[in-house]
Amino acid sequence: MTTPHPGRIRPRRTRTTPAVRRLVAQTRLHPAELVLPVFVREGLTEPRPITSMPGVLQHTRDSLRGALAQAAEAGIGGVMLFAVPEHRDATGSQATDPDGILNVAIADAVAEVGDALVVQADLCLDEFTDHGHCGVLTPSGAVDNDATLVRYAEMALAQAAAGAHLVGLSGMMDGQTGVVRDALDDAGHDDVAVLAYAAKYASAFYGPFREAVESQLEGDRRTYQMDPANRREAAREVAIDVAEGADVIMVKPAMSYLDVLADVAAVSPVPVAAYQVSGEYAMLEAAAAQGWIERRRAIVESVLSIRRAGADHVLTYYATELAGWLAEETR
Ligand code: PBG
Repeated sequence: MTTPHPGRIRPRRTRTTPAVRRLVAQTRLHPAELVLPVFVREGLTEPRPITSMPGVLQHTRDSLRGALAQAAEAGIGGVMLFAVPEHRDATGSQATDPDGILNVAIADAVAEVGDALVVQADLCLDEFTDHGHCGVLTPSGAVDNDATLVRYAEMALAQAAAGAHLVGLSGMMDGQTGVVRDALDDAGHDDVAVLAYAAKYASAFYGPFREAVESQLEGDRRTYQMDPANRREAAREVAIDVAEGADVIMVKPAMSYLDVLADVAAVSPVPVAAYQVSGEYAMLEAAAAQGWIERRRAIVESVLSIRRAGADHVLTYYATELAGWLAEETR
């Protein structure tokens, strides 16, 4: 019996010590590329826990300011604001009322952390409509694309007036990016940036978010959000949004769509965001709570994977906590 000659080529050499692993790490996380989604609820006197998202709260206007100050302290890149109004109606009128909860929260956020963080707001009607759809409906109950665009343009103006740096178009209506860009420019808000949720899929992983915003939706969003089966279509959606003037585009959800993210990152001429959504958060939390996965390692690995697949920045409910860990590691 001869001993096999050991190979000269040994990839394990660059894995032998923490120092060499650190040297050759191809992807790194930095607080600046993390964006924290936050919820504010009109009429609360105390922050309220969201059962399906342990650790995430519906904020009061006051507690929101605290969370934002903490996020800025941790050095993250930005926040994405979602708001839950007390009253809803068919056209989502609270979305465009300057005194509506989202618009006042934008102004609060800009006042509190506007120099440190990019203040972004969700531009969509679903939190504001009594039927829970992302747009207004035709008499027969279908989502009316072009009538919705009129509302989105009005919403963009309300958010820009409140001081939003960037509006996040999450409604998946055709033509929304161009219509909002035009409305902002016509009103002199040409500095307000547009984030287009270009490839947003009709996903079961938004489940806990529906609790977070007390969604009134019955049924689903499959006539406007993308079919999870489709990969090629993402490139088309991105091309359209870029042509219509998107400053940043997004793939959402993240973890089940890393192939789409990699495709999009390879061709996008603008920064690419990815959203680690509520259901992804809930899965990690549930498994970690059972002791079935190591919480911190799993969180870091999940966000690292999203970056590795090509996201320039990541929306994650872990943004502030993760930024704290990153600061510990580099000390
Ligand atoms: C729509 C919107 C949704 C999410 C962000 N924006 C819900 C939906 O499309 O049904 C989901 C985010 C998450 O699940 O964390 N305004």
